[in-house]
Amino acid sequence: RGTVTPKDFLSLFIVGMKEILVLMTFCFHHAATSCSKSCYCSENESSGKTVRCSNLQLTEIPQDIPNDTRRIYLDFNLFTTVPSNAFVGLPHLVELDLSHNELSQLEPGAFRGLGSSLQFLDLSSNKLKNFNPEAFKGLRARANLTNNPWHCDCNLQMALPRVDLEPASLTGIVCQTSDPEEIKVQGLAFLLEPDIDLCVVMKRTTDVVMLVVMFGWFTMVISYLVYYVRANQEDARRHLEYLKSLPSRQGKETVLHF
Ligand SMILES: *[C@@H]1O[C@H](CO)[C@@H](O)[C@H](O)[C@H]1NC(C)=O
Ligand SMILES: *[C@@H]1O[C@H](CO)[C@@H](O)[C@H](O)[C@H]1NC(C)=O
Repeated sequence: RGTVTPKDFLSLFIVGMKEILVLMTFCFHHAATSCSKSCYCSENESSGKTVRCSNLQLTEIPQDIPNDTRRIYLDFNLFTTVPSNAFVGLPHLVELDLSHNELSQLEPGAFRGLGSSLQFLDLSSNKLKNFNPEAFKGLRARANLTNNPWHCDCNLQMALPRVDLEPASLTGIVCQTSDPEEIKVQGLAFLLEPDIDLCVVMKRTTDVVMLVVMFGWFTMVISYLVYYVRANQEDARRHLEYLKSLPSRQGKETVLHF
């Protein structure tokens, strides 16, 4: 009694090995099926599955993110672009953090498939210059667009009313440069400046083109009129001379007859 027999030892060893084996298969299984290999995953009941890939020097968006992920943190990496369909197949994604990257471009359809689920999209502190409405198509999320070198021009002005993003998101577009340059919009949130019209130069150009075209038509019509009048003047003069000569001839004839 109280002594450990070799048999006990063996059974203890076997139980221990079994436990380790179960743990190992669980770990491998977990790693292989439920999380991206370059990121850290966690899961809890209130916020669902979260994938953290922050600050990993990533240059391409991982394509092995589990399809039941609700939050992805991809901040502080080296992404320069978000390709089309980068997050397709993630129907439960609620939050996507792409802040503090080198993003200068969002391809059309970059966030395709996220329209009905995504609520928060962080694109702050990137290198975004040109607003591409095609990238945000169908997205109704609240977006953080601050801290980007936005270029404000007529394209931006025309695009903003057609964007589905939560309207307050667009106040994050603070202009760093503008076209036309002389319109002082630098440092201003474009959406909050209803009096600024960046399409005015284009409108003016269109007006000038219209004016030139109209002037051209007008000149042609006038030239034709002048030509017509001249040609007919000649005719009219001849006709008039003919008419003038008539009464005298007729007169002579009348005299001759009566
Ligand atoms: C995720 O993918 C698996 C198979 O690849 C599928 O069985 C499952 O229904 C998918 N889950 C969601 C939430 O789409
Ligand atoms: C947007 O991002 C900036 C910088 O990354 C942060 O300071 C700010 O609090 C964010 N705004 C919102 C509304 O989350």
